[in-house]
Amino acid sequence: MADIILGIESSCDDTSAAVISDGYLLSNVIASQQVHKEFGGVVPELASRAHQQNIVPVVRVALDKAGVKPSDLTAIAFTRGPGLLGSLLVGTSFAKALSLSLDIPMVMVNHLQGHILANFIREEGKPVVEPSFPYLCLLVSGGNSQIVRVDSPLDYTILGQTIDDAVGEAFDKCAKMMGLGYPGGPVIDRLAKLGDPGRFHFAKPHVPGLDYSFSGIKTSLLYFVRDEMAKDPEFMEKNKEDICAGFQKALIDILMDKLIKASKQTGIREITIGGGVSANSGLRERIVAEGKKRHWKTYLPEFRFTTDNAAMIAVAGWFHYRSGERAPLDVAPVSRLADF
Ligand code: KG4
Repeated sequence: MADIILGIESSCDDTSAAVISDGYLLSNVIASQQVHKEFGGVVPELASRAHQQNIVPVVRVALDKAGVKPSDLTAIAFTRGPGLLGSLLVGTSFAKALSLSLDIPMVMVNHLQGHILANFIREEGKPVVEPSFPYLCLLVSGGNSQIVRVDSPLDYTILGQTIDDAVGEAFDKCAKMMGLGYPGGPVIDRLAKLGDPGRFHFAKPHVPGLDYSFSGIKTSLLYFVRDEMAKDPEFMEKNKEDICAGFQKALIDILMDKLIKASKQTGIREITIGGGVSANSGLRERIVAEGKKRHWKTYLPEFRFTTDNAAMIAVAGWFHYRSGERAPLDVAPVSRLADF
């Protein structure tokens, strides 16, 4: 009999539920919370309330779309963390209640592991293109920027990570300060396509090893825009495409320099990306181009699996389930990666 896993994701501002059958996706439903837009960032208390409203209908629609009854489910996989505690609590509590009522096991998933395994979501009628182990994953999101060595679905090592801001944070904060809206990544991505990346240059950090830093470049962009605006209040409006192109290029250069270094150090040429920033068109193009040059095999997740989604949680959960892991009923969500 097939393993049918319900995945639940509620770590930040998307409520998502997905159903997979032996790794094949049957449904993936995401309710994105619009309530945060006017605040220019996610408001944790509003996020957890919205999750409470969304979770039951989202799970119901995911089951309906999959053509699966609750009694058909083998197990429930849920995001335990890292993320916003109040948001995680909604998904965790829902998973517990459903597990108790259906008398089926639960498995807990580290959200970042979901992103790392997003390339293993299989879809009927599509070729199976999966990285082989070991591979490197450039994990780039609003909360994390890491290079991860993945030796098996459940065995991974962080080789480098940001010592301050995440790259998504740099996109978001700079877009906000430049008055471009929220979330910043997609806006900067769109404007950068229209601009000249060679016109403005931003200082890059010198961080030893494979770690990243994005707070310096963020600050240098903000000072640069502030100083230019003092001279010409229309500077931003007139030059926003070139500024975004230059800024995005600098961020991609920083990411790629360390990824190339990690590949050289480990000898690993199977390369994947994951997390919200992996939707960035400049980064995707660049990773493919570098890959060709360096004889890497590159794997890019589909756009809909780059941002938060329960399909990746269900797939990661399936690996945990098959390894025999089960989550106890008194499991508590955790907000920080270090607490895993
Ligand atoms: O993985 P994610 O959905 O949420 C977590 O952080 O867990 O990532 C969200 C981040 C935001 O910072 C957003 O600006 C960024 O992903 N993002 C992008 C793009 N689309 C989303 N950054 C750059 N280019 C994009 N196209």
